[in-house]
Amino acid sequence: MSSINKLGLTFTLFLLLSSEIFFQPTSTVMAADQSAAKNISLKEIMQGLLKDTHMITEGIFLENYPMIEKGAKQIARHPQVPMETRKKLLKGLGSEMGQFKGFDMKVHNTAVSIAQAAKDNNMEAILSNYHQLIDGCQYCHDSFKQRAVEIFKK
Ligand code: HEC
Repeated sequence: MSSINKLGLTFTLFLLLSSEIFFQPTSTVMAADQSAAKNISLKEIMQGLLKDTHMITEGIFLENYPMIEKGAKQIARHPQVPMETRKKLLKGLGSEMGQFKGFDMKVHNTAVSIAQAAKDNNMEAILSNYHQLIDGCQYCHDSFKQRAVEIFKK
């Protein structure tokens, strides 16, 4: 192995390890706060996301930045989807699971950006990310909500 390759490998390993440590959770729906209550259903998690989205919306209209930050952080750190549910989704969605996870990441990342913008009292950045957040929820629902419900029925 050339030294350049070795360096690349070391760097990749470093990224993998450091992301485990620093960037948890890495995604919104599929992975999240390990300390959260176990076995809360995907549906219940979604109902929580709706409440958190309400909190952000209310915070925007009241210009209450801590409220916005709280709602956004709760979205970014919502409870973990049960393993059983993740397995069912993977089986049912197959190769489209990547797209599902992509929407999940989009929502997670925009929630993180909203929390940061709220900390900075930056309403412009909050709003542009807020629109992306809602798009992220909506795109996933459009593509997968009905299908997921069918998959869970089986
Ligand atoms: C990665 C895909 C995905 C993303 C992103 C996503 N959802 Fe969902 N959502 C689902 C699926 C799948 C269901 C159906 C769950 C079920 O009925 O078991 C659902 C259902 C819901 C429901 C209906 C719950 C009920 O009581 O029937 C609400 C409300 C909801 N989502 C809100 C949100 C909000 C708000 C966001 C963004 C902050 C969001 N979702 C982001 C996949 C997603």
